[in-house]
Amino acid sequence: MTTEYVVQVEDLRKSYGAFTAVDGVTFDIRRGETFALLGPNGAGKSTTIEILEGYRDRTSGEVSVLGTDPGRGGLDWKAKLGIVLQSTGESGNVTVREQLAHFARFYPNPRDVDEVIAAVGLEEKQKTLIRKLSGGQRRRVDVALGIIGRPELLFLDEPTTGFDPEARRQFWELIRSLKAEGTSILLTTHYLDEAAQLGDRAGVIAGGRMVDIGAIDEIGGADARIPVVRWIENGVLREERTTTPGALVARLGEPDGLEVVRPSLEDIYLELVGEAGLAAAATDTVIEGAAL
Ligand SMILES: Nc1ncnc2c1ncn2[C@@H]1O[C@H](COP(=O)(O)OP(=O)(O)OP(=O)(O)O)[C@@H](O)[C@H]1O
Ligand SMILES: [Mg+2]
Repeated sequence: MTTEYVVQVEDLRKSYGAFTAVDGVTFDIRRGETFALLGPNGAGKSTTIEILEGYRDRTSGEVSVLGTDPGRGGLDWKAKLGIVLQSTGESGNVTVREQLAHFARFYPNPRDVDEVIAAVGLEEKQKTLIRKLSGGQRRRVDVALGIIGRPELLFLDEPTTGFDPEARRQFWELIRSLKAEGTSILLTTHYLDEAAQLGDRAGVIAGGRMVDIGAIDEIGGADARIPVVRWIENGVLREERTTTPGALVARLGEPDGLEVVRPSLEDIYLELVGEAGLAAAATDTVIEGAAL
């Protein structure tokens, strides 16, 4: 069986005047996969997602979403997408339940409104006007609206910003159940633990360029995952990276402050983005030098 791709992006570029926000990005998402797009503020994540959603034109590059060019997607195509934008302008003079019931009618095979309300934990607020909700509760409404149409492909642009820790855990459960049903997901998040929990693969984007892409547990390469042993010796913090931490610990015995730390996705991410920043700074210097 050939792999089926729900998203294919080839050398995508987006410029605003002289400024290039997305600078030749290539990636794809397989059916059923959760792909996490990671990167610092201003990296080009929302720009990329909004191009895939059909909200934004691209400057150049090839893009296919569910087999369609988003620039030409009709209503049938849109009905297969679930979209949670980074920010929504919902004024919300209707109740949570009214809003969901209203949007459910746009889709051929919507989810049950009560089920969705329960899935995002808004049972007690379902009769409250949206404008009277707290920030995190409003964000839950955004997520509910994103899934009400039973999308094949779900775009989540920083969905859990403003969620309390319990709501985030509940959201992770929701995403796992959507995944289990076969939903393909493109997620951006600044919570690297969230990306590690939910993502199958990740792409790290910085300055509009993809600096690494791969399976969540392989991104950054094997070397980035070498454990670090820390301990205190004569009042000084010592640290050693080693592929055989057990042997080192056995040798050290019981020093103060002994710990073995495996780099988290966040550690690896920071390293990647830091390197990309240094590389960009070096390139800028060369360009400046050439211009002189
Ligand atoms: N309409 C616009 N006109 C000009 N520049 C824009 C426009 N929209 C976005 N940009 C710029 O493009 C770059 C990428 O923005 P984008 O919103 O894609 O970043 P992001 O990766 O989503 O960041 P964040 O994590 O903060 O959401 C930024 O430098 C931003 O200022
Ligand atoms: Mg963004």
